[in-house]
Amino acid sequence: MTTAPAARRNSVGTAHTRVEGRDKVTGTARYAAEIPFDELAHGWLVLSTVARGRIRSVEDAPVLAMPGVAAVLHHGNAPRVDTDYVGLLGVPPDPTAAVFQHDRVPHLGWPVALVVADTSEQAREAAEALVVHYEQEPHDVDFAAEHPDAYPVDNHGPAVIENGDLEAELAASDVVLDAEYTTPEEHHNPMEPHAATALWDGGRLEIVDSNQGTMWVASELAKLFSLDPASLRVRSEHVGGGFGSKGVRAHQVAAVMAATVLQRPVRVVMTRRQMFSLAGYRSPTRQRLRLGADADGRLRALEHSSLSLTSTVHEFMESAALPARTMYGADAHHTANRLVRLDVPTPTWMRAPGEAPGSFALESAFDELAEKCGLDPIELRVRNEPERGPVSGLPFSGRNLPACFREGARRFGWEGRDPRPGVRRDGRLLLGTGTAAAFFPAGSAPSTAAVTAEADGTFTVRVNATDIGTGARTALTLVAADALETAPERVRVHIGDSDFGPAFIAGGSMGTRSWAWAVKAAAEELRERLALGATVPPEGLTVRSDTTEAVGALAPKERHSFGAQFAEVAVDPATGEVRVRRMLGIFAAGRIVNPLTARGQFIGGMTWGISMALHEEAVRDHGTGGHYGADLAGYHVAAHADVPPIEVDWIDDPDPDDPVGIKGIGEIGIVGAAAAIANAVWHATGVRHRHLPIRPDRVLTAGRHA
Ligand code: MOS
Repeated sequence: MTTAPAARRNSVGTAHTRVEGRDKVTGTARYAAEIPFDELAHGWLVLSTVARGRIRSVEDAPVLAMPGVAAVLHHGNAPRVDTDYVGLLGVPPDPTAAVFQHDRVPHLGWPVALVVADTSEQAREAAEALVVHYEQEPHDVDFAAEHPDAYPVDNHGPAVIENGDLEAELAASDVVLDAEYTTPEEHHNPMEPHAATALWDGGRLEIVDSNQGTMWVASELAKLFSLDPASLRVRSEHVGGGFGSKGVRAHQVAAVMAATVLQRPVRVVMTRRQMFSLAGYRSPTRQRLRLGADADGRLRALEHSSLSLTSTVHEFMESAALPARTMYGADAHHTANRLVRLDVPTPTWMRAPGEAPGSFALESAFDELAEKCGLDPIELRVRNEPERGPVSGLPFSGRNLPACFREGARRFGWEGRDPRPGVRRDGRLLLGTGTAAAFFPAGSAPSTAAVTAEADGTFTVRVNATDIGTGARTALTLVAADALETAPERVRVHIGDSDFGPAFIAGGSMGTRSWAWAVKAAAEELRERLALGATVPPEGLTVRSDTTEAVGALAPKERHSFGAQFAEVAVDPATGEVRVRRMLGIFAAGRIVNPLTARGQFIGGMTWGISMALHEEAVRDHGTGGHYGADLAGYHVAAHADVPPIEVDWIDDPDPDDPVGIKGIGEIGIVGAAAAIANAVWHATGVRHRHLPIRPDRVLTAGRHA
């Protein structure tokens, strides 16, 4: 650590392998469920087998007599928690996480008990032997097109915004498109399942967890259990993916309850199958787009309305109609998000919540409108570039969408593309290309950081960031090194510990930007003090920062990242199989801190876009109310053989209002990717696919119904 020279370098913007990469590939890095504890007990969650009703009884006595079993927690004996609060993200807690508080069962897979035993195997065997009697009631899990109970929900702004006379503008339009698009229920499935260990240590509650923000989890657990926040510590050192699913969930709460009752460390790990009902998911959507344009493609009318679902116990909305408010202007501009409550688990944030399904509909519709106008789809978008936020009227902090399309078109070889569908062949395969815009909000939130000059000449950064696989730890190392005018090798970054103080979560593509702001502020002040001759005592010299004021002073603007997605597909008309042959994404997403890990983020998002376009679909059984195949055999995700070479690059687009120039890149890679593929499938076959995933059976039968 001290061998590298203390030289000034420009580390931000140069490729660095992950600072914890060696630990990860050698197994030295330990994940939440791998950290050993003395006297550790293992909890196994028992989930309901009915989709609606009441728990009549839990036959815990026979299970308590089984080998190693220490406790069976359920609604009849579990500690009470307080759910009457508003959490860090401005919403009340999801009752699904506040386990064992009542006898009601609102969906299949609802946590009804935790069996705790000396070993994981004993806990599992006892949990599987536990008999729970239910009073079953009829359930409704059908996400129908016209549900009578659908209602509008405000989420990041008003649910419904209606500017201008839509019907009049549609009537006056030369070209009109009216189409419905649907996306299915989709699941995050991070590689590392949710896992938490809770223990009381000298009057302090410790939770070793896999989450997207220890402050988030700590603050909510403190409220649930009515604890002084200082009496609780949450750590989350390495996280094998989160994608929005790793907030406060049943496993942490159940582990805390059991550790409290038994006064010994208790670990609760979700199985892959349990994650399908306990970890949240992306709601299915039904979206209607009505676009009206002049003959030259200028939009007169834009209507985007979206229906998604939530559970009967908690309100979460997939805001698919939201991005249209930023993307395109129209004389009449109507957007609406509506929700229906069904007897299903509560959905949650999943990579690009709202934008991922919303962009499929919006960017498919733009491709259809371009076809109707006889315009190139890129030209249609360029002609509809707004000067200011189409609904907000606010200036953009930067809007480099046309530049992304220009560079993308050049690199992809878009020029000279024959717009006619269904005319290119490679043997029996039909070939096509498609494009779509990508977009995602750029935001920052208050964070704190501490940077210490050590007596040996190295530096230690403590910031309560979480690296859920994004490379945040490495990015922060580079940011700190530049601010300290030293080499990254002389900087160590500690993250994932609520004792480090408040910091934003790894979410909303806001993590690295929010933390980097705080790290840079503390590091720069430390460097100045050292330059002025401050001496470093043996315990080190520490400077702390808090960006609350600076972030709060940001002027209101439309702040977003943008991108252009391109895809080429080959469709086999004999089997209905769609294969993506190549993809290109060009992004304007702020200053890129670490090109190596950033490229991985974009490619990961685009890969998920392939998966969303062609594979992913959780199917709910009308009869039982549960899933068919709630595992990675039944739920298809893109595998290596499905993913072609994906090319990613970016244009220079530093955020003028961010100290490092960052905008955030965690989510934009998936946005527009499925639309680009669907548009390419149309170009190949002449058939529009408005329902995801584009399965072989849909390709085979679509033309026949047209
Ligand atoms: Mo992301 S869906 O904000 O983790």
